[in-house]
Amino acid sequence: LPIFILNGPNLNLLGLRQPEIYGSETLADVEARCAALAAELGHAISFRQSNHEGTLVEMIHEARNAASAIIINPAAYTHTSVAILDALNAYDGPVIEVHISNVHKRESFRHHSYVSLRAEGVIAGCGTEGYLLALRRVASLLGAK
Ligand code: DQA
Repeated sequence: LPIFILNGPNLNLLGLRQPEIYGSETLADVEARCAALAAELGHAISFRQSNHEGTLVEMIHEARNAASAIIINPAAYTHTSVAILDALNAYDGPVIEVHISNVHKRESFRHHSYVSLRAEGVIAGCGTEGYLLALRRVASLLGAK
């Protein structure tokens, strides 16, 4: 089964939006780097983005039967969405949470994450490289099974 890599609101604007915080790489660039590393690690990925909370919830439901693990950058929904937390709680495989920026260095409303109540691991402040670190972690969690 593929590893789902899910991205929340405004990440479609990666590279254009606040590059001083999020860098100049686009989400398509991140997807290409993830696909290359996943292939090296012997995994497939399904890389997606939505600006809609309910769509993200439905992607997580789909993962129940279709994903070996979930890597998720819930973006602003990290800090607000009990619905995304509940959906992840209905998923059995490993979950890794990624934030491009160091949310702990930013406004206090970014310091709390609902998703962290479910995630096995959290990577923040490593830029887009965080997605690659998450893939390596997922590969070792799946390999260790
Ligand atoms: C983010 C951090 C969130 O606080 C913010 O709302 C985002 C992106 C990150 O990747 O650093 O949209 O998840």
